[in-house]
Amino acid sequence: MTILETFIKATSDLRDHYSKMTSSEMEMRIKEIKDHLKDKLFLPAHHYQKDEVVQFADVTGDSLQLAKISAENNKADYIVFCGVHFMAETADMLSKQNQTVILPDLKAGCSMADMADIHQTERAWKELTKIFGDTMLPLTYVNSTAAIKAFCGKNGGATVTSSNAKSMVRWAFQQKERLLFLPDQHLGRNTAFDLGINLQDMAVWDPIQNTLIYEGSDLEKVKVILWKGHCSVHEKFTVEQIQEFRKNHSDYQIIVHPECTHEVVRASDYNGSTHYIIETIKNASSGTKWAVGTEMNLVNRLATHYTDKEIVSLNPNLCPCLTMNRIDLAHLLWSLENIMEGIPQNIITVDEETKKYALMALNRMM
Ligand code: 13P
Ligand code: SF4
Repeated sequence: MTILETFIKATSDLRDHYSKMTSSEMEMRIKEIKDHLKDKLFLPAHHYQKDEVVQFADVTGDSLQLAKISAENNKADYIVFCGVHFMAETADMLSKQNQTVILPDLKAGCSMADMADIHQTERAWKELTKIFGDTMLPLTYVNSTAAIKAFCGKNGGATVTSSNAKSMVRWAFQQKERLLFLPDQHLGRNTAFDLGINLQDMAVWDPIQNTLIYEGSDLEKVKVILWKGHCSVHEKFTVEQIQEFRKNHSDYQIIVHPECTHEVVRASDYNGSTHYIIETIKNASSGTKWAVGTEMNLVNRLATHYTDKEIVSLNPNLCPCLTMNRIDLAHLLWSLENIMEGIPQNIITVDEETKKYALMALNRMM
């Protein structure tokens, strides 16, 4: 059987087996396994996970929190990571040698992370070095492969998250004159702009066309080179939605994730990481009204949780992250049962060479 055939068979076996169980049967079995494994099992979940998964999480958090918490855990033999592939890779690199990191569904990737591969990055670096010489530092959003993180580590750079992007960009400018920011052009642009860098002094690297997009006339002025990548969920929020929303709801405050476009971030009242969004709404006075521009599982959870406030999505057609949503009760239970049977599946491991350099980038951030 080819790898693809094996994968397809495993997926349909999984579907057949768990489609015969009700949600409450699956929930009961997950609970039993959790009670049995106790602290040999650790289950972190990102804020964008479905409620059916979050109810079993030992901890929920944004990507920075989950990276730190995974690094601190030294009791669990198994870390079943409810999030997307790059987060599980990071957990593997930060966890101890004897810990096994599992991603319940290997199809839970991140479309943004897939927009920068290592070959494109190496090619870009070569071309950009011809233009700018040894003046650049690479910074990568944690939403990237371990190979890209290793590339940054090797070249003196670091990782950033949406929680610490500003301080990391400040740090980068203490090291070098300009920076290459991968793979999210929007987080890069929003962060650099907040630090006082003019939009005219930012260029965009197109990894498909292999060209630098720059509208100015003096390349010497370029301070930030943004990778042409984006989040397909957050790009769905638009300025038109904000204008329309404000017309009918002038008493609402608008808060968005900085993966939204620069225009959307400027048109909103607040922007920040998932953690920042949660804290801002949690600490807001009762009776305040919020339109939120981020993934729908989080927006719905905020609305259910903080009933003393009015919380709606900025996009009436709500934006799910399809890959985050791949983790469900069936995949979680399947992962846990495999552990119980002593045949853990979907183990995420980063090879030693990549890990060595990627850890340099992660540790400069941590
Ligand atoms: P946070 O770092 O805010 O958790 O964001 C991660 C992410 O993937 C947002 O799309
Ligand atoms: Fe990736 Fe966007 Fe999903 Fe976050 S919301 S995991 S950036 S695709």
